[in-house]
Amino acid sequence: MPAIVLVGAQWGDEGKGKATDLLGSRIDYVVKFNGGNNAGHTVVVGGEKYALHLLPSGILTPGVTPVIANGVVVDLGVLFEELDALEARGVDTSKLVVSSNAHLIPRYNKVIDQVSERFLGQRKIGTTGRGIGPTYADKMNRIGIRVQDIFDESILRQKVEAALELKNQLLVKTYNRRAIEVDEVVEDLLQYAERLRPMVADTSLLLSKALDADEVVLCEAGQATLLDVDHGTYPYVTSSNAISAGACTGAGIPPTRIDRVIAILKAFTTRVGEGPFPTELHDEVGDTLREIGHEFGTTTGRPRRVGWLDVVIGRYAARVNGVTDFVVTKLDNLDTFDEIPVCVAYEVDGKRFDEMPENQTDFHHAKPVYEMLPGWNADITGCRTFEELPENAQRYIEFVEQQIGARVSVIGVGPGRDEVIVRHDLLND
Ligand code: GDP
Ligand code: IMO
Ligand code: MG
Repeated sequence: MPAIVLVGAQWGDEGKGKATDLLGSRIDYVVKFNGGNNAGHTVVVGGEKYALHLLPSGILTPGVTPVIANGVVVDLGVLFEELDALEARGVDTSKLVVSSNAHLIPRYNKVIDQVSERFLGQRKIGTTGRGIGPTYADKMNRIGIRVQDIFDESILRQKVEAALELKNQLLVKTYNRRAIEVDEVVEDLLQYAERLRPMVADTSLLLSKALDADEVVLCEAGQATLLDVDHGTYPYVTSSNAISAGACTGAGIPPTRIDRVIAILKAFTTRVGEGPFPTELHDEVGDTLREIGHEFGTTTGRPRRVGWLDVVIGRYAARVNGVTDFVVTKLDNLDTFDEIPVCVAYEVDGKRFDEMPENQTDFHHAKPVYEMLPGWNADITGCRTFEELPENAQRYIEFVEQQIGARVSVIGVGPGRDEVIVRHDLLND
């Protein structure tokens, strides 16, 4: 069985967690391959709500082996807090496997993330303040601390010392903060070593063997296409590769083993943090949509910025991820609108763009070109087949398919595990 990659098509919070959970019982491994506890996935199972940050959503399904792969940045304190909270609710987390090559988020990087955002003022990114960016920067700069380092205290100490030599200069001289002691960082990391040890493995090898044995491996992206550091709305992005190709480097799975890419597309658009957003609504319609969709961040509680669906972004996501199937989520949140605008192109200084403008300034100036679709003014949460949807809701989905040029295989009509319409089986069809 080939590997499957599941990605977000927009700026995150599309409902990736729910989609992973939906596939849960049919997969053997769920792999988180990028990001860290900047992610926030809300999954509703049997009326119970779970908020996951660092752990892959598949951890809620008995029998699935959750994997934190090499491309992830791990805050060990958060890891064990999340594991304890799930265990306390009766979820078996004993199968979790963590890559020995994953990078750790030492406490100084949380401090640097937060103070550098304050320092940037107007130019801030609006990060989650979890130390994600500085930790990926350290990885590229070859001064990162990895999972395997905490099993050798003298190596750990050397690495922390080397990193702090630079970090303390920055903290003290630029940000006017106190220096961080080597001992406090080393002790903070070492306290988790014995609990972590049995979970650690060569996850690339593990997954390769699983694929050889015909097991189903689902790689679940954190964040989303437009937050990808290479293909997103740079610099208003996260610091990892959140597109499908990120699964190759982030989990050590070669491209030749991936043949299905599922993209999650919310029926409208949201964004947390700063950066351009052509269809953003600043009026009471936006407030209504935010309230209906409960669009407040799972990680930081910030109100999410909201706007209409943008199929230029959908087209782009289809292209850069090689999407085979789209899952459109939260269609039910559009139940009460008489007319639903969908952005099909942009206008920038009088010029029409049908594709994402490559130039950052153009995207900042992009004005949406809308097509108006009729609403359906009906409650669709009880629909379980495409034919049961009101005609205008069917038309909305067909319009998306035609505009994006890819099929919509699943439609979300509510937050619960069962509140979906499956048109094509995501694994076999
Ligand atoms: P993720 O980060 O992509 O996993 O998404 P989040 O969990 O941050 O945000 C998605 C939210 O939408 C969660 O609260 C889900 O429970 C909810 N959700 C997912 N699919 C649907 C759907 O089809 N309808 C409704 N009403 N809510 C949904
Ligand atoms: P999930 O997986 C939405 C955003 C932050 C900020 C930018 C950089 O739940 O979809 P970072 O802390 O990563 O350096 O912040 O990225 N961001 C997300 N927005 N959903 C997420 O994850 C996000 N993870 C990061 O708000 O704008
Ligand atoms: Mg989220």
